[in-house]
Amino acid sequence: MSEPTPFWLAGKPATGSATTTVRHPFDGAEVAVVAQPDPDQVETAVAAAAAVAPAFAALPAHVRAGALAGVSKEIARRGDELARLITAESGKPLTWSRAEVARASSTFRWGAEEARRFAGELTRLDTDPPGEGRLALTRRFPRGPVLGITPFNFPLNLVAHKVAPALAVGAPIIVKPAPRTPLSALFLGDLLADAGLPEGSWSVLPIPNDRLGPLVADPRLPVVSFTGSGPVGWSIRDTVPRKHVVLELGGNAAVLVAADYATPADLARAAGRIALFANYQAGQSCIAVQRVYADRTIVDELLAEIVAAVRALHDGDPADPATDVGPLIDVAAAERVEAWITEAVEAGATLVCGGTRHGTSLSPAVLTGVPPTAKVVSEEVFGPVIVVAAVDGVDEGFARINDSAYGLQAGVFTHDLATAFRAHRELQVGGVVIGDVPSYRADQMPYGGTKGSGIGREGVRSAMTDLTEDRVLVLTGLDL
Ligand code: SIN
Repeated sequence: MSEPTPFWLAGKPATGSATTTVRHPFDGAEVAVVAQPDPDQVETAVAAAAAVAPAFAALPAHVRAGALAGVSKEIARRGDELARLITAESGKPLTWSRAEVARASSTFRWGAEEARRFAGELTRLDTDPPGEGRLALTRRFPRGPVLGITPFNFPLNLVAHKVAPALAVGAPIIVKPAPRTPLSALFLGDLLADAGLPEGSWSVLPIPNDRLGPLVADPRLPVVSFTGSGPVGWSIRDTVPRKHVVLELGGNAAVLVAADYATPADLARAAGRIALFANYQAGQSCIAVQRVYADRTIVDELLAEIVAAVRALHDGDPADPATDVGPLIDVAAAERVEAWITEAVEAGATLVCGGTRHGTSLSPAVLTGVPPTAKVVSEEVFGPVIVVAAVDGVDEGFARINDSAYGLQAGVFTHDLATAFRAHRELQVGGVVIGDVPSYRADQMPYGGTKGSGIGREGVRSAMTDLTEDRVLVLTGLDL
């Protein structure tokens, strides 16, 4: 038997007494056996992070920036290897794995750039007599070592979104990757190990979820940054209410196609984007299109275009570059989505196409006439499912988008600037995308949700703000 893939303990490779087997979601083939850290090794990683924290925060910006830039370049250089690994462990079609690799490289590059820019602010204090001769300098300092908990759906780039901002501000980080997809995070460890970062400033610990509790509770890790499901995220926050907890949770992302987006070219574009981004990793993205509201004047034409575009998608082996839609992460996930489709149909919905399951794969489904209470509308489906409904005007469209327990991102297809600004003001979400689907994300922009979609923001600069806190230095006796 070959040696298990080591984990990263305070920047060094290590193995423990147990292992986890990673299997390909498409065919169940063994991809790798990964070493699992023992409890005393977890303790060593936390102690090392706490010990290095003051020195790491004091490291010159160019050292941190140089390390991050180096990792960015290595991700790009080893992009093909990494993309194949992402596909093997997550079942994501190769095209999308390549896109994820490019984004991860960009996330680290942004980390390098922002590390150099992250400075501070001067405030005049001589605005009132007691402040004469005084000046305040406000800088942000790390809150402390970070516990980063990452999901399976972007096993590289969502790890990058925890690691790059932490290293950019000088906060040590312990990454706990998703049990099904630890390999990309461990590969990233290879690159971090060559980046010249101080010992203890980072660890990658693929422990099972049922061993997370003590890490979350550990007072030496004052920041917990979690991306994943709502119930787990909110329970973390409830367990440690005094910690700084960042939650990037799910959503049931909606798009409105307004009446003015009505030429044949408009409708073809909107339908193509909707079909692609409802299914781009079998719908397993928090901002995958799920709910489509279209003005009643155009809904029939749009629906026909969406169905045609969905039918044109190729499902199959994610390693085949021609595949658009791969498997879900496991059979349980595919069965759940299938059951939610059945529930909607039993409640009166029409299944226009798709919805057939083979093992972990589910053919992309389009539903109409779905009651708003059905789970495919009201919950995060995290599968290849589109629900289309007619609305009468923008008012109703916005109301339907906001009628959700979640609020991550929304898309509005319109040419009207006034509607665009109204959408920005009125939609209860963390991001509004005009002229495109809610699934658009650039890694430097603030990203996060309102309501059940979480608290805090990622996007490199925003995460750096979240991981740090203001500290004021008042200078006295100055001749200003
Ligand atoms: C997510 O699923 O929340 C991440 C989406 C993305 O980074 O594109």
